[in-house]
Amino acid sequence: MAEIIAGIGTSHVPSLGAALDHGKTQTDYWKPLFNGLEPARRWIAETNPDVCIIIFNDHASAFSQALISTFAIGVAPEFQPADEGYGPRQVPVVKGDGELAWHIAESLILDEFDMTIVNEMPVDHGLTVPLSVMYDQPAEWPCRVIPVCVNVIQYPQPTANRCYNLGKAIRRAVESYPEDLRVAIVGTGGLSHQLQGERAGLINSEFDTTFLEKLVTEPETIKSTSHTEYLREAGSEGIEMIMWFTMRGALDDQVNEIYRFYHVPASNTAYGLLVLENE
Ligand code: DHB
Ligand code: FE
Repeated sequence: MAEIIAGIGTSHVPSLGAALDHGKTQTDYWKPLFNGLEPARRWIAETNPDVCIIIFNDHASAFSQALISTFAIGVAPEFQPADEGYGPRQVPVVKGDGELAWHIAESLILDEFDMTIVNEMPVDHGLTVPLSVMYDQPAEWPCRVIPVCVNVIQYPQPTANRCYNLGKAIRRAVESYPEDLRVAIVGTGGLSHQLQGERAGLINSEFDTTFLEKLVTEPETIKSTSHTEYLREAGSEGIEMIMWFTMRGALDDQVNEIYRFYHVPASNTAYGLLVLENE
């Protein structure tokens, strides 16, 4: 049987990928952040999951106003890094797991989550930066990837609670797959940030650190936080944090916290990282 062994939460700030791609990880600005990734990277290398289900959002790279899907799942054999305006990142092609992805899609849809099924999707920094966080700069990504894309950029977004329940449904799907696979689930985005308007540059460390603590220890108490509260407290892009609930929902009620890291600033955002293990 396949099982979810761990959950990882990470911001997906694009300049972190650019710092890595352009050899700037040891500069005064970036060194503290990249040093902070080390314990998580060691743990991931040791744990070496077969498949990572990555919960991320597209930033108008694969999708546009022409089609706004609330939840989408990538079932293709591979996904190319997207061109976000500077040419695609020079990172390995993302290899999928079509068989498991179709199984999860079927299970989710029969479980009443109406997924959009995606056969072709370039993947932007929302997905490739988390892979860089986890694996640095390998010649090939060491795991197969199932991309699960959540609309957090166009109103109306799903609730955090819906994302949490999606995580529970993903767990049921994985656990009904007969092959012995060790699966990690990755929630991406956030933490607090606002990229535009009068409050551009907003960071709320108190909100972020409370979020990280409660997501680990008592997610049920914060899963009803409203979109308005995210907007007010974590900025207009802080709502990306709801994707971390899908990761958390796929884990046990009580988890082992392997690692937690929080760093400000990372470009315009607060950077957060969590590694959680099922008991
Ligand atoms: C930025 C963009 C993002 O999508 C994000 O999640 C964080 C930061 C940025 O452009 O700085
Ligand atoms: Fe983003």
